[in-house]
Amino acid sequence: MSTAVRYYSRSGNTKALAEAIAAAAGVEAVSVDAENAPLTEPADTLFIGGALYAYGIDRHMKEYLKSLKAGDAKRAVIFSTSWISKHALDLIRKGLEEAGIPAEAETFHVKNMPTEEQLKQAAAFAGKFL
Ligand SMILES: Cc1cc2nc3c(=O)[nH]c(=O)nc-3n(C[C@H](O)[C@H](O)[C@H](O)COP(=O)(O)O)c2cc1C
Repeated sequence: MSTAVRYYSRSGNTKALAEAIAAAAGVEAVSVDAENAPLTEPADTLFIGGALYAYGIDRHMKEYLKSLKAGDAKRAVIFSTSWISKHALDLIRKGLEEAGIPAEAETFHVKNMPTEEQLKQAAAFAGKFL
């Protein structure tokens, strides 16, 4: 079962979640603007996360979502951080839908920087899909 973790984070909050999820999966958390972000082999599960900025997602995440193709992942699992709104979850889901990648209904969201406890919860959440 192959797993990939991709994220975009301006100030480290979503990166912390991505790294907790990646550690649970035994893979590397890769920023969507990194050279190795493209999925060179189809993933069974793609964990993908981003934050909300002025009610939108960062352009790097938008571009990454546009680059995805249906064969890149069998399914996706979405996570996010934000101050209040969970709208980034919807925007990422929409991008995945447009790419033809089904996303699990269950998502993981925390307010700003995750606490140690929330990082443990993120790892446990990831475990459901591994
Ligand atoms: C420029 C900017 C705009 C933001 N806009 C929103 C927003 O519209 N709604 C919200 O709930 N949080 C908003 N936030 C809070 C971020 O989503 C939150 O701090 C998030 O955890 C940042 O994640 P990151 O550290 O991974 O970049 C905003 C933050 C910044 C810096």
